[in-house]
Amino acid sequence: MKETTEPAMGDMQYFPTVLDAIGNTPLVRLNRIASDVPPLVLVKMEMMNPGGSVKDRIGPNLIAYCEQQGLLRPGGTIVEPTSGNTGHGLAIAAAIKGYHCIFVMTDKASEEKRSLLRAYGAEVVICPSSATHDSPDYYKNVAYRLADEIPGACCPDQYSNPANPATHYASTGPEIWRATAGKVTAFVAGIGTGGTISGTARYLKEVNPKIQIIGADPPGSVYSGDSPKPYKVEGIGMDMFPRNYNPDLVDDVIRIDDRASFHWAQRLAREEGILTGGSGGTALGAGLTYAKRLTANDVVVILLPDTGRGYLSKQYNETWMRENDLLVQAESDQPSLADVLTYRRTHTRSMPLVVSVLPSDSVADAVELLRRYGISQTPVMENGRMIGSLTEDLLLRRLASGEPLDTCAVGEIQGDAFPILDAHTATKDAYHVFNDCTSAVAVMRDDVLEGIVTKSDLLEFWAHQKTHA
Ligand SMILES: Cc1ncc(COP(=O)(O)O)c(C=O)c1O
Repeated sequence: MKETTEPAMGDMQYFPTVLDAIGNTPLVRLNRIASDVPPLVLVKMEMMNPGGSVKDRIGPNLIAYCEQQGLLRPGGTIVEPTSGNTGHGLAIAAAIKGYHCIFVMTDKASEEKRSLLRAYGAEVVICPSSATHDSPDYYKNVAYRLADEIPGACCPDQYSNPANPATHYASTGPEIWRATAGKVTAFVAGIGTGGTISGTARYLKEVNPKIQIIGADPPGSVYSGDSPKPYKVEGIGMDMFPRNYNPDLVDDVIRIDDRASFHWAQRLAREEGILTGGSGGTALGAGLTYAKRLTANDVVVILLPDTGRGYLSKQYNETWMRENDLLVQAESDQPSLADVLTYRRTHTRSMPLVVSVLPSDSVADAVELLRRYGISQTPVMENGRMIGSLTEDLLLRRLASGEPLDTCAVGEIQGDAFPILDAHTATKDAYHVFNDCTSAVAVMRDDVLEGIVTKSDLLEFWAHQKTHA
């Protein structure tokens, strides 16, 4: 950790090894994203560790524990089951200490994370994520078996190694306490091995037992009381309680699903300029949910465990998100009637968005206009105001009743004006306005008629959206 940095020579400032650059990550205030919750909300930027995650902290200490236990000797091999980040933390420490690494991951781990491990010179073994923990193919069982079979190999096992929570007790907890000048009132983190939350919580509860510790958990994980089910967020949630998780230190566990987790992570990047992974989004979602219950005197610290760079082919890839049905349509992303008009202008009919007639126009001229543009209805306008409508239905009813058409003016036979909707109205809300008598709506923006949207315009737009979804 940085505190152990050797005194630098003269005025020079440097770390003796990259391991000394681990920890002392900053706290950053959330501004826009937390504007509607009362407390001060701070995020702990664990992606700023040299390997890009909170797991850099435990890598050297997991290895040191194995060395102290006599399980790992110079030139030995480290075999670890990991979702990726612990692998990076171990690989960094192993590079410095001269150990070979084999990491066992599930096929859920992103391609970037696998490639990163190989970049540090590690071997990567991939296991099916569908294997349950009683199966020999389960990634942890494969790692334990390899560690047994390979001479000189040892599994540091982040799930049970006491150095994991001890590292957070010694570094993450004190850093948060110091950086908030003891004002932190709640700490929120995702739970994987439980090391981060249990170690940090033990320190924080020792210095102030009132500090609330909140876990963030995906549905399908046992920490929030669910039965094991698959989910997409990486690195957190578990199908059984590991030794390094201490539930007595955790006051509440809040469940946040995949879609919300990825959505929160995306908002964090776009609104605060902070790129984190899916589990950071889970922690953020849980933290902001919890913060709603608090006051302006509270200080909430949310731990963001890793960088989003490991997930560019997944949660930050729109195709992957769409294929997995994870896209959230924000309210502002909902297609509106303005979009229907834009689509019509650019894709379909080469005609003005508003074709209208005057009440004084002859019906014969009006019918000619409908025919020319291939439309079934038109508004009747007077002095820039819509005062009625002329529709094919109305004209046919008139013809059917035997009343003359060719001699009269539009104003004599016009029907009611079309219902008026604002251009921002979501198309899904506009569907309800159409019924047997309403064949079109007038779309207004700031009191100006922007265009007429018909039933067929809406259906065409819907079909276009569906094929391009
Ligand atoms: C991306 C990510 N987030 C969160 C965690 C959870 O941290 P811990 O294992 O200390 O509970 C992990 C653990 O692997 C992780 O990889």
